[in-house]
Amino acid sequence: MSTGDGGGRDAPIHPRLLAMMNAARYYGMELDPHEFRAGPDETVPSAAALSAWAQGSGMWSRALRLRWRHLMRLNTGSPVILLLDDGTAALLVGASIEAKVVALRDPRSSDAEAPIQVDEMRLAEVWSGEAVLMRALREQTEADPPFTMSYLFGQVAKEKKSLRDLFLASFTISLLHLLPALMVMKVMDKVMQHQSYSTLFLISVLVGIMILFETLLSFGRRLIILVVGARIDARLNLHIFNRLVRLPLDYFERHPAGETMYKVSQVHKVREFITGKLLATVLDLITLVILLPFLFWINTTLAWMILVCSALIALIIVAFLKPMRAVYSKVLKAETSKQAALGETVFGMKTVKSLALEPQRKALWDERVAESGKWRLAMGKIANWPQTLVNPIERFMWVGVVLIGAYMTLEGEASMRLGGLISFMMLSQRVAQPLVGLARLMEDWEEIRGSMAQAADVLNRPIERDSASGGLRPKFAGAITFDDVTFTYAGTKLPALDRVSFSIPAGTMLGVVGRSGSGKSTLTRLLQGINREYSGFLKIDNADLREINLRHLRSNYGVVLQENFLFRGSIRDNILAGRPGLTLEDAVRAARLAGAEEFIERMPNGYETYVEEGSPNLSGGQRQRLAIARAVITDPRILILDEATSALDPESEALVNANLLRIARGRTMVIVSHRLSSLVDCDQIMVLERGELVDIAPHNVLLERCTVYRQLWAQQNRHLETQGSRHAAIAPTLVQGD
Ligand SMILES: Nc1ncnc2c1ncn2[C@@H]1O[C@H](COP(=O)(O)OP(=O)(O)OP(=O)(O)O)[C@@H](O)[C@H]1O
Ligand SMILES: [Mg+2]
Repeated sequence: MSTGDGGGRDAPIHPRLLAMMNAARYYGMELDPHEFRAGPDETVPSAAALSAWAQGSGMWSRALRLRWRHLMRLNTGSPVILLLDDGTAALLVGASIEAKVVALRDPRSSDAEAPIQVDEMRLAEVWSGEAVLMRALREQTEADPPFTMSYLFGQVAKEKKSLRDLFLASFTISLLHLLPALMVMKVMDKVMQHQSYSTLFLISVLVGIMILFETLLSFGRRLIILVVGARIDARLNLHIFNRLVRLPLDYFERHPAGETMYKVSQVHKVREFITGKLLATVLDLITLVILLPFLFWINTTLAWMILVCSALIALIIVAFLKPMRAVYSKVLKAETSKQAALGETVFGMKTVKSLALEPQRKALWDERVAESGKWRLAMGKIANWPQTLVNPIERFMWVGVVLIGAYMTLEGEASMRLGGLISFMMLSQRVAQPLVGLARLMEDWEEIRGSMAQAADVLNRPIERDSASGGLRPKFAGAITFDDVTFTYAGTKLPALDRVSFSIPAGTMLGVVGRSGSGKSTLTRLLQGINREYSGFLKIDNADLREINLRHLRSNYGVVLQENFLFRGSIRDNILAGRPGLTLEDAVRAARLAGAEEFIERMPNGYETYVEEGSPNLSGGQRQRLAIARAVITDPRILILDEATSALDPESEALVNANLLRIARGRTMVIVSHRLSSLVDCDQIMVLERGELVDIAPHNVLLERCTVYRQLWAQQNRHLETQGSRHAAIAPTLVQGD
């Protein structure tokens, strides 16, 4: 059997893809045809799918319909892809307005051939307007701006149309506030003097209508804010996730998942603030600007009182900002470590239960809860002060002004009649509200700044060197060369790999042995480009690893670790892992190769059996074989097994090992294992000791000349004897599975 065609590696590339790749090369970019994802039910690559492919690889691209006159006007310095009616494509490489022709190139032709000159008539016969444009993106692109307040405000500002509607609505609402008040002022005194019931009734009806309008407008205003908020949230979520998955693995190893999740979720708090309180207050300020002059017009003294009271409130709040800021940062810190503890306990629940660590975890939790409670209380106590001090002033604004106004009216001040007083009361609340709101906003701002800093702490870390675009995309054969490679983990003193040099040809099996901590996993991590700060050279075939596009590199690997995470979904989904263009047949083939077929078929629903997160319904051996199937499904050139079989019982291990030779056919294997017995078939075995390469040779040679290897072998020898006899007993049944 063969997996050579798994994923259709060697099939000829579709001319439309070729055209795209040619155009990309014009900008010095390489598109990987294996990353192209056809839409559902597409027999030929569509314009939309093609442009999505280019975008996914970090280029700017649009699918659109063009006409002849557009072609004449296009800046032909850059190629345009014309999708022809017969399902192929042509590259538009030039246009001449005088000669009325365009120059087209067949993507399948060599660069040496001259482009074909085509006029409007002839083009119309083969082309009905479908085209894809493509351009390289500049370094810092829209897809990847740093995460700051101004980025968030920018997101809000993008919603120009909604914002305009909001301002209009607010403006109208302010006018609707104003009119009844003015009417009351003008008419109320007459009503009183002349006891005019009908006028009063008329006013009431008008006021009623205005209230109705105002209610409707406010409803609309809130709706717009909701929609804008939801739209921004959707964009934010995409952006956040993009940043998060592009952070280097290092980051996730050093920070608890719970902490990361908590910090990232703070983004939404900031967003809510911006489209919630902040926007509302800004809109209310419109009301303020419109109404304030009228207050002064009605009664200057009272208007000043409102202003002075508001200023007092603002002063009080500002005075407390500094102490609040100090305490709030403590609250945030305590809250973060509380979330980290919760996350750790949930993610490690298996260990917590099996070691009966519940009391300890609970004690830790209690401690964190107490700490966060303590600071929240402290925060509350401080926040209580401005609230207490502000309260009487606010009350005075509502009641005091009325009383003083009433006094003025009684004294018979010319400017202050009953109508005036009532309308002043109607308006003054609308003015004081945004003034106080503005002061409150400063209070919230502190909190929001803290939240923002937390989110930025995660999201603005340097991401892996551009994994989507740039870099070489060579076709791998699978030869690996280490040339004087030294690597030290950040924060440690001793190098994990120390001047390691070796080289293995493509298609061979390399075993890696060494004591715990000798640098075996580190070696595989360097190969995968997880840690890139090594010195020396690391080459795949003849390409420097640092120069290779990260995603391309990793998609050429299959990796199986000791513990493999299976995602929630069917067994089939887990083996395919959402890769494009793969079918159930591929899954079955990979499962057979990994020795997983037999148990999958015994499962109640076969390949459709549901696997829960963390896969509790599978045994360790089954899980491991699924992981191997998942790793080999794309027919990777290089397969890395890091202690992939150590957690298995001898029977499952024998099963996997028996398949290893079949799996290894036609690819390079790097197998890290503690069990030397499973490595005897390797072409070369490398012995590591404290990060240094002690020796590299086949098993027999090592037994003779390498002391460390002999020691390790001797330690396992007795162990081997019993296992060896088991191997023999199982082997015949395995051969049948082939
Ligand atoms: N993420 C890390 N940060 C810091 N130091 C690390 C990290 N990972 C490994 N190390 C250190 O690097 C050295 C080599 O670790 P490595 O994981 O490569 O060993 P190993 O040979 O795979 O061991 P084992 O057989 O136990 O898996 C060890 O001393 C280890 O403490
Ligand atoms: Mg290891």
